Amino acid sequence: MSNSGEAELLHTFKGISFTTRSSPELLKSLDTFDAREDDILLVSYPKSGTHWLAGVITKLYNTQVTITSPIEFGDISRLEELNKLSSKRIIPTHLDYNMLPPNFKNKKCKMIYISRNPKDTAVSMFHYYRDNPNLPTVDTWTAFFDLFLKGNVVCGSWFDHFLSWEEHEDEKNILFLFYEDMKKDLPKVVKKITLFLSLNVSDNDIQDICKKSSFSQMKNDTEKENSDPSHTVCALTSNRKLIFRKGAVGDWKNYFTPKQNIRFQEIFNEKMKLSKM
Ligand code: A3P
Repeated sequence: MSNSGEAELLHTFKGISFTTRSSPELLKSLDTFDAREDDILLVSYPKSGTHWLAGVITKLYNTQVTITSPIEFGDISRLEELNKLSSKRIIPTHLDYNMLPPNFKNKKCKMIYISRNPKDTAVSMFHYYRDNPNLPTVDTWTAFFDLFLKGNVVCGSWFDHFLSWEEHEDEKNILFLFYEDMKKDLPKVVKKITLFLSLNVSDNDIQDICKKSSFSQMKNDTEKENSDPSHTVCALTSNRKLIFRKGAVGDWKNYFTPKQNIRFQEIFNEKMKLSKM
């Protein structure tokens, strides 16, 4: 990874790498953020299917809801902007549980955490590093693989992120979802989301929403529209065209060498020994 690129594009806050699109002032003041009881948080480690989930959720409402840009994106003026929104807010974030503004926890806001096989997440993130000008350049998959395993990537270690949220999995206001389940049976996952959000959506409407949320449909829709900064739910880019790459399960098999797979598995087993995953 080029060091100059890294120094210009990333900074560290509380031991975690953020892009300069998240200002240190904003990150410092997140603790004062004024959550509302009806806020919904959409939480993920980058490249876990955040846009897919956001696309589904916005289609479930027939009342006015605003999917905001991520809470950690921008400068300190963001807090005021979010405060002024009069509609119901769906707020995306890549923050780990410990960094989440405490008001969301105190007010027991509903939170949906989407996770994905970390091997596929790593491959997806590798491409994101290569294509996204807001991230440092990375020369090879081998180099990125090491960075990912050490947690020396934007948003920190996948393991730490997942574990910080998994610890709260049993809390009633938190719903855990998996990308792979969405791929396998999207209507089933959407039904689960409607129950969690107490929304009344017919089975026919769910089928229709699933069709409109397919990878090809979302990719096409994105290609037709002009890039709009308010349109990404990832603090790392405003360019939706960088999001829809392959949309597959198991792409890691095209990148991991057998040796890398063994090393990944060893670290996974060690880090996740207390996890229920
Ligand atoms: P790939 O890079 O493996 O293709 P995020 O939204 O959190 O940044 O995640 C992006 C990943 O989700 C990308 O993975 C992207 O292709 C995939 N994705 C986005 N929309 C999808 C959809 N409708 N169906 C399946 N995968 C989708």
